[in-house]
Amino acid sequence: MSSPDAANIHKPVMPVECLSILEARRGGLFVDATLGLGGHTELILTSSASSVVIGIDQDQQALDLASDRLSHIGDRFIPVKGNFSDIAQILATVRKGSPVGVLADLGVSSLQLDSETRGFSFRFDAPLDMRMDPDSGGPTAADLLETWSETEIADVIYRYGEEKASRRIAKWIVERRDAGEPIRGTTDLASLIRRAVRVDPKERTHPATRTFQALRIAVNNELKVLETFIDDAESVLAPGGVLAIITFHSLEDRIVKQAFRRLAGQCQCPPKIPQCKCGAMKKLEILTRRPIVPTVEEERENPRSKSAKLRAARKLNG
Ligand SMILES: C[S@@+](CC[C@H](N)C(=O)[O-])C[C@H]1O[C@@H](n2cnc3c(N)ncnc32)[C@H](O)[C@@H]1O
Ligand SMILES: [Zn+2]
Repeated sequence: MSSPDAANIHKPVMPVECLSILEARRGGLFVDATLGLGGHTELILTSSASSVVIGIDQDQQALDLASDRLSHIGDRFIPVKGNFSDIAQILATVRKGSPVGVLADLGVSSLQLDSETRGFSFRFDAPLDMRMDPDSGGPTAADLLETWSETEIADVIYRYGEEKASRRIAKWIVERRDAGEPIRGTTDLASLIRRAVRVDPKERTHPATRTFQALRIAVNNELKVLETFIDDAESVLAPGGVLAIITFHSLEDRIVKQAFRRLAGQCQCPPKIPQCKCGAMKKLEILTRRPIVPTVEEERENPRSKSAKLRAARKLNG
């Protein structure tokens, strides 16, 4: 039986839609590039007794919980600690062949978001860490705020958080740093932002939400690793195999949409460029002209699914 803990912490998004587009019932080798608590992996493994899932996650805590949850599956489940941008090397090491399906359910899990110590949320007072892989040795969000210039901070908050008040927030952060009191905690940053930003009374989200998203994307280099992942996932798929990606904000969705189009042979270069430079080549067939979104019932039962968009593409034969 699956562990009630992992199953209750995080509900897999669009479960029926994912299984259907991945054709999970046909069995075979699948890669769950964002194992998390193992929700999607468990569904894939129980769809066919002949399926094997390689579950990748960069977070050891998630791998431990998912492995516990899936211990009843035996050797059809292969957990791997790593970054999904290394999918090609990971598959070469595991040596199980080419997958018929690759799934990525991007972003953070509820385990990470609801952690009182890892700094992803301003609901808890914690050090501003935000690394999905705390063993990486890479810089934390607090480190970035301490070392970046005011312009770099503002640019990241604007670009990855789509925050209009980015310059003002960056100015206030740097003023604190210059006064010898750098921001190192979640609630400290959230209350600074609340004071720095003119709050729209109609807006229901906390004004710090966009800045927290931006810092998390920067700390984990999320957009760059996604770009690498899409090209490499296409190259490792078996002919006829399906790549399915769930995104949670417009920056991610745009990357997936444009990469799929490029890999479907549609040039993504700006107009008037004399020669194609984006490397468009027909390798995939897009299965979702428009992204699939959760039903109203799912949104009600699983609020995390609200902004989710699922896009999928099939690798061409030969
Ligand atoms: C939204 S959760 C996945 C939840 C999972 N589908 C489930 O149903 O339980 C995303 C997970 O992917 C992991 N992750 C995000 N980006 C990653 C990356 N570049 N490489 C490896 N793991 C990543 C996170 O650590 C997190 O555990
Ligand atoms: Zn082009």
